[in-house]
Amino acid sequence: MNKPVLLVTRRLPAAVEARAASSYDARLNPGDTPRSAADLLRLAEGADALLCCPADRLDAATIAALPAGLRVLATFSVGTDHIDLDAARARRLPVVNTPDVLSVATAELSFLLILAAARRAGEGERLVRAGHWTGWCPTQLMGTLVSGKRLGIFGMGRIGRELARMAAAFGMQVHYRNQSRLPPELECGAVWHDNDAAFLAACEVLSLNAPGGAATRKWLNADRIALLPRGAVVANAARGTLVDDDALIAALRSGHVRCAGLDVYDGEPALHPGYRALENVVLLPHLGSATLETRDAMGHLALDGIDAVLAGETPDNLVRAERRQPEQEAG
Ligand code: DGY
Repeated sequence: MNKPVLLVTRRLPAAVEARAASSYDARLNPGDTPRSAADLLRLAEGADALLCCPADRLDAATIAALPAGLRVLATFSVGTDHIDLDAARARRLPVVNTPDVLSVATAELSFLLILAAARRAGEGERLVRAGHWTGWCPTQLMGTLVSGKRLGIFGMGRIGRELARMAAAFGMQVHYRNQSRLPPELECGAVWHDNDAAFLAACEVLSLNAPGGAATRKWLNADRIALLPRGAVVANAARGTLVDDDALIAALRSGHVRCAGLDVYDGEPALHPGYRALENVVLLPHLGSATLETRDAMGHLALDGIDAVLAGETPDNLVRAERRQPEQEAG
């Protein structure tokens, strides 16, 4: 019997590709060439399943033009903002993603951004690499402690909750902003805010961990930044679209925001040129889930979802419309 055809848009970890090739007639991308919508549609001809990544754009027109025989769309990500879910629903195309398995890695990355920004790790690294470091001195590159400070988490989904757990070890008091309050066993002592003003006023450190999409677009704008305490630290490991870049850059220049750590950008891999000119911002290339263990687990979970849909089952990682709440996350 012929194996179902699976189109994989980008190169995946070796173990994941090996499984895909053994279970499917897999169309892989060994050169890891980014696929345009036209390439993707051409390559998807005759496919039963499609495994895409956050760097692919599955907009309404592309989804409508996918082959009629396509039975499942999987994404190698928890975030689904690159997929027009309404268009997928309209053609009854199930979508599966990779929740849970990347929560710890992405929370670690959020914490790395917070620490790297607060302790000026980027500036220090640039100094040493440039050969300009002349030795220890009492006033060089003084940052700010995060231990004992108030951490505000915008989007207390699985990643946000992992971050809160890590922050507890630093003696940080966690505040969070969600549409609804979490039950006590998930809240673990964190303080819920039902409005932005009270939440932002509490944030000595602000971490963005909410999904992208229309509901959160440019959420961190000039008005909200003004509500942060002067000297706040900002980290974004969620989606670049959550931030109004002009407003954040102005606040980083004025010192109202002391420093920021960013892993994601609106329109990435392009980023606002203003960031590159600033010393007080740490810039990473969307590494939130980039650990060997995590990327293997993401690939296997995506394949589990594809296997289940093709077997006529409903996988746990099926993306449901009602799950797209601000507390769900993108990493
Ligand atoms: C996700 O899963 O949404 C991430 O951004 C990919 O690392």
